[in-house]
This record gives sequence, C-alpha cells and structure tokens, in this order.
Amino acid sequence: MPTPNKKAAVLGYPVHHSRSPRLHGYWLKYYNIAGSYEAIEVAPENLATTLKSLPEKGFTGCNLTLPHKEAALAIMDEIDATARMIGAVNTVVVRGGKLCGSNSDVYGFIQNLKQHARLSDYAHKAVILGAGGAARAVLYALLQEGFGDITITNRTQARAQDLAAHFADNRIRVVGWERRDASLEVAGLLVNTTSLGLSGQPPLELSLAALPTKALVTDIIYSPLITPLLQRASERGNKVVDGLGMLLHQAVPGFEAWFGLRPEVTPELRAVVLREGA
Ligand code: ATR
Repeated sequence: MPTPNKKAAVLGYPVHHSRSPRLHGYWLKYYNIAGSYEAIEVAPENLATTLKSLPEKGFTGCNLTLPHKEAALAIMDEIDATARMIGAVNTVVVRGGKLCGSNSDVYGFIQNLKQHARLSDYAHKAVILGAGGAARAVLYALLQEGFGDITITNRTQARAQDLAAHFADNRIRVVGWERRDASLEVAGLLVNTTSLGLSGQPPLELSLAALPTKALVTDIIYSPLITPLLQRASERGNKVVDGLGMLLHQAVPGFEAWFGLRPEVTPELRAVVLREGA
C-alpha cells in the first residue's frame, strides 16, 4: 500500500500573503516528497477547533502566522521551552495525536545571520530597535548566543522595560527612543525589529553616524528586500543581512518534522520565493 501523502499548512487571518506555501512547495518538489502544504484562512474564534481537528484530518502539523501565534499557546498539548519563553507558537507538530507547539523564529533569525557572517566577529554587543513579538525572539536568540551586552530601544519605553523584565538578564539595557542614534556607538550588531521601513509604513528615522562601520546590520523586514536602513548601512561600509533568510530558515525545523527530511536554504530557494509575488 502506498504511504499516504503527508499534509501540512499555514493558518492565518488573513493568510493569502503568506509565502510559506511557496517555500514548502518548492522543497516538496525539489526533494520529490509526496506531500502538500496549503494556506488555510482561520478566523481567531475558530483557531482552537481547527487546530484540534488537524490530527483527524491527517495533518502532520502546521505553521501559525498573524494573529494566531500567541493564542495558540493555550491550545497546545505540549509547548517547548523556546515557545514558552517567547510566548508564541509558530510551528505545530502532531505527535501521537497531540499538538506540540514550538517557535522556530529564534532559530531562523540566528541561522540567517550565521549563513552570512561569523557572529564572533561582531563583538557580541547588539542594539535592538523595537520591543514587539519579533524583538522578543531576537532578544532571546542573542541571549542564547552569548551576546554580552544588548541594548533595546523602543518608541514606547515601557514595552522595552517589560521585555527586559521578562528575560531578567543583566546583559540587557533599555535606552530611550530619543537616544537611539547615540546608542549605536557600542553596537557590533544592529537589528531592526520595528515595522518602520516596511513597504507602506513610515520610514525609520535613525542616524547611523555613531555606528561603527565594522558593525553588522540586519532587518527582519524583507519587503522591500533591501530596506532603506540596509541600503544606508551598506553604502557606508557596514555588512548587511536582509530579513528574507529568517523566513526561509525558520521553515526548516517544521519541514523536517512534518516531511522527514532536513531541507537546505539555497540561493535558488531565495530566488523562487522572491520571484513569485515579490
Ligand atoms: P511584531 O510582533 O511584528 O514585532 P508589534 O508588536 O506590532 O509587531 O511591534 C512593532 C514594533 O514597531 C514596536 O516596537 C513598535 O513600537 P511601539 O511598541 O512603540 O508601538 C514599533 N513601531 C511601529 N510603528 C512605529 C513608529 N511609527 N515609530 C516608532 N516605532 C514604531
């Protein structure tokens, strides 16, 4: 008897913008795996029912995107340490009929940087702009990587303070948003996690004058691929890493768990994800 096709999906609301089907679809084809990955629009009030029905519908798991990542925590049967720490689930694996939630954004962020740069070259001092969900994953990733000094600066300072308090680690400092330009003086790594610079959003107002030219600069935004921040940083000689790689790398653990093969993030995959619908 042939093995049944393995099924996975991304659940979001809305979900049509998600690039995950294209990404997983590419790998399924490339590795010649009999499986499928679809986008399913699920309204928040239907999230629990939909997630709980996944095992009986034959799904091996799913990804979660906005606005479901936080709400999913309460629906999982098991949650791994990273998802618990981040307070968000983006990958669900069905194991023995149970829903196991994890968060691969931390992994995706770090793997993207490591694919392009040797982190030990960047002095282990970082400045994070923003204090939302993405900043939480980035902060946790940098703490795990052993960064010794991490500055968070956010328009709403109380949010940055809450984030620092959540991790309760003396390597974290909070700096007022009005002092963000000067805070760059110590940075070996600068990460933008705000929505500023995203297509259709206001620009990020930030002077790079104090930033050492040997600092690495990355943006979690990948639309546009080269954000104005990355453009300016690159023009003054900083090495830059765009945010698309984070999306690609965060997909790896889910694909491996659902389809049984660890896929590679290659230039061809990048091109495919960028080409269609950029
Ligand atoms: P995500 O979960 O994707 O990180 P979010 O929680 O909405 O999204 O966070 C967006 C980030 O962009 C926040 O740090 C937000 O700052 P506030 O906490 O002050 O809202 C930041 N941001 C959005 N618009 C901004 C603006 N016009 N100026 C400065 N920061 C902005």
